[in-house]
Amino acid sequence: MSSTTEGQAIHARPDISYGEYLALDALLSAQKPLSPEHDELLFIVIHQASELWLKLSIHELAGARRHIAADDLGPAFKMIARVSRIQTQLIQSWDVLATLTPSEYNDIRPYLGQSSGFQSHQYRTLEFLMGAKDAAMMKVHEDTPAYPALTEALAAPSLYDECVRLLARRGFAIPGGQIERDWREPHKASPEVEAAWMQVYRDPERYWDLYELAEKLVDLEFRFQQWRFAHLKTVERIIGFKGGTGGSSGATYLARALAGSFFPELFAVRTNL
Ligand code: HEM
Repeated sequence: MSSTTEGQAIHARPDISYGEYLALDALLSAQKPLSPEHDELLFIVIHQASELWLKLSIHELAGARRHIAADDLGPAFKMIARVSRIQTQLIQSWDVLATLTPSEYNDIRPYLGQSSGFQSHQYRTLEFLMGAKDAAMMKVHEDTPAYPALTEALAAPSLYDECVRLLARRGFAIPGGQIERDWREPHKASPEVEAAWMQVYRDPERYWDLYELAEKLVDLEFRFQQWRFAHLKTVERIIGFKGGTGGSSGATYLARALAGSFFPELFAVRTNL
């Protein structure tokens, strides 16, 4: 394009501007600090940016789950890889938040009331999508507009459930209870599923796409745990071991989540390989 025609390219929608397309008026007027404190804007922006990344992660992982259910692994790999990159952004954002000192947070804290990440329905949807089902977590969302969608996310097979079903379709001996079950319950580690992954890891060339899928899942869990760990450590440096605004024990509660695994058999395989 010559310099004279730059900016005059053919537009499919000449009537729509950058700001309109991105709904910037709505987006940039959605930061509403409640305190007079300088640092509250940082606190709001980090949370809002994280929620936007969560939105995209849910979109991508739901897409990956659909493709896996349809035995179409190529597009699923691409979507999972994108989520891993998003996770890197999310992890990185703790570095920005860590510039908030305990005194600065204390000045904002009274204005936060009982609002807490506990109430992030997108975070819970993502956990459910990954396979960490916990119906007790629905309680805080009762009587909120997010409840129906979250109920659906709880009742649907997770990304990992679809991977286990894929193993069954590929001829591995997977028990019926892993193929059809009440998906509201969390996946329970199964020796048969572990044995299937073991075959894949012992002969990657033969099962290359399943091997690649397994490693992509491990990437997801690895980064998810890095995010949780960085959250925990940021919380410790900002509020120490005080309780959270959501009423939990704070750092102690957050540390508990680090003990769990979304894809237990994929980690068991590593021990026994
Ligand atoms: C100064 C910054 C922050 C502090 C002190 C903090 C503190 C906490 C605490 C103590 C909890 C446990 C629940 C409670 O009692 O409230 C929690 C949960 C949570 N926070 Fe944060 N947090 C901070 C920033 C963030 C950011 C930036 C996000 C990004 C979205 C976030 C997302 C979450 C989520 C999703 C949970 C629920 C985790 C679960 O149930 O496993 N937090 N936070």
